[in-house]
Amino acid sequence: MLALGIFVGVIAGLVFFVRMNAIEARDQFPLDDPEIQAAIAERIRPVGSVLLIGDPEIEAAAATIAIAAPLPVDTVLTGAQTYNEACYLCHSAPGVGGAPVIGDVEAWLPRIEQGIEILHERSLAGYQGELGFMPAKGGRVDLSDAEVTSAVDYMIEQVPAAE
Ligand code: HEC
Repeated sequence: MLALGIFVGVIAGLVFFVRMNAIEARDQFPLDDPEIQAAIAERIRPVGSVLLIGDPEIEAAAATIAIAAPLPVDTVLTGAQTYNEACYLCHSAPGVGGAPVIGDVEAWLPRIEQGIEILHERSLAGYQGELGFMPAKGGRVDLSDAEVTSAVDYMIEQVPAAE
């Protein structure tokens, strides 16, 4: 009984002590004090921050650095790259609108027999055949002639018997 009494006494004492400290601390560091608010904001500030184009910080930084505009580089796509970008759409299996499917021997052999010049020419200028319409440069008029004809060569290389 005595031990229990002492125990309850100690607990009550502790609660009282903590409570007094809390009240004291509240008076010492009032949360609505702008200085304390600023100190807290500073302590919990994120380590980094994201700047977006248009933010004044970026504009200020940009004003101090003179960055030379990169020179446009002329890149030339390989035949395979051109095919994947511009021709794949119609010329991959199952073939859109009658387009001969890449690697399809039956579809390509008679075309290859016409001669590479005709195939190059039609890939550049476009072609209305019996099976469908092949748009000029596959619709990608931004491609150079060399890129388009190298895509034709690439497609022909994919026909096993034609090599
Ligand atoms: C919008 C669909 C489409 C795209 C994109 C397309 N083609 Fe075609 N292409 C066709 C069709 C359809 C034919 C078959 C026309 C026919 O024979 O009736 C064809 C046929 C061809 C032929 C055979 C011509 C002949 O004389 O037999 C070549 C070569 C060719 N395309 C190259 C290309 C290249 C290179 C590209 C990419 C730069 C390309 N095509 C993109 C639809 C397309």
